[in-house]
Amino acid sequence: MESGLPMSPYESDPADRLLTASADGEDQAVEAALRPKLLDEFIGQERVREQLSLVLQAARKRGAAPDHVLLSGPPGLGKTTLSMIIAAELNAPIRITSGPAIQHAGDLAAILSSLTEGEVLFLDEIHRMSRPAEEMLYMAMEDFRVDVIVGKGPGATAIPLELPPFTLVGATTRAGLLPPPLRDRFGFTGHMEFYAPAELERVVHRSAGLLDVEIDPAGAAEIAGRSRGTPRIANRLLRRVRDFAQVRHDGLVSREIAARALEVYEVDARGLDRLDRAVLEALLKLFGGGPVGLSTLAVAVGEEAETVEEVAEPFLVREGLLARTPRGRIATAAAWQHLGLTPPQAPAAARAARGVRQNGLWADGQA
Ligand SMILES: Nc1ncnc2c1ncn2[C@@H]1O[C@H](COP(=O)(O)OP(=O)(O)O)[C@@H](O)[C@H]1O
Ligand SMILES: [Mg+2]
Repeated sequence: MESGLPMSPYESDPADRLLTASADGEDQAVEAALRPKLLDEFIGQERVREQLSLVLQAARKRGAAPDHVLLSGPPGLGKTTLSMIIAAELNAPIRITSGPAIQHAGDLAAILSSLTEGEVLFLDEIHRMSRPAEEMLYMAMEDFRVDVIVGKGPGATAIPLELPPFTLVGATTRAGLLPPPLRDRFGFTGHMEFYAPAELERVVHRSAGLLDVEIDPAGAAEIAGRSRGTPRIANRLLRRVRDFAQVRHDGLVSREIAARALEVYEVDARGLDRLDRAVLEALLKLFGGGPVGLSTLAVAVGEEAETVEEVAEPFLVREGLLARTPRGRIATAAAWQHLGLTPPQAPAAARAARGVRQNGLWADGQA
């Protein structure tokens, strides 16, 4: 971790958290087997799929490498999978690297200069590349050329090197962090969206088939509904439910088995896990629904503020259970309902709007 901040248990060991969208060791091993290989097998993301299919077909027709492609979206939605599909559809080899792996411009020069004509270069987490490498990439993308610097100081010279035409596929979870000159050099950007439950059901069915897991439609729906719109999570929950079904039952995944298995793993009906529920419970029970400051809330659940903000909150906000306001975090009516609790007389939001103080203090502790 480059931030130098103390690591939370969730960061140091992502396997601790069943619902993290980033890939752990087991995921990486299994994912290779579960990845769709062609565009037609790729479920959902209709818009991206259609746009990409046009880009690829046109390039094939022209017999030239297609424009550079940027894929942006949260982890686990299929960016790496799509990059491999792009290469497969073009019948081209693929080279895989990532922003953090490219520390120096020289690292990038070495990769670029060894590309073959038409090769696909997949650059994951492209927003984490170093500045000098980024600048080298601009020229490589636009003119298929790099300047290799030889020597140091006043005697240094730039030797131009021609590159064969290649296609860069960049992936990022933070498109907003890309400098505009880099973003502009992509001919096509695919924005990946969270998946609808029906699409995730298809993902679960498909993976169950590949993993030889017997599952009925209600079982698949139960897993899909708890997967936070994310295929990686759906695949992971499927494997845990399969374990439960095989150890405690005859292996068939039904709705009841899926629900009981995920109860064991503390994934609730809406896809909230232990940390998500702890945050909501603290917000409701200790702070009456808020508003409460992030750091106060984090202390109440015994976590780093960063963990609460980056791991739990995005999903809670997306689900409409929690809102971030200038005064602090507040719970929505849906949050009270989800935890089966009754909100106090005046809803927190209304209190905050009227600016009422409790015991002479704002609910976030400020006088
Ligand atoms: N549209 C999809 N259809 C089927 N499986 C998918 C789809 N998108 C993602 N997956 C599965 O989810 C897992 C994570 O996908 P991946 O491409 O690694 O996500 P990302 O690179 O965006 O984090 C893979 O195992 C992949 O098989
Ligand atoms: Mg990936």
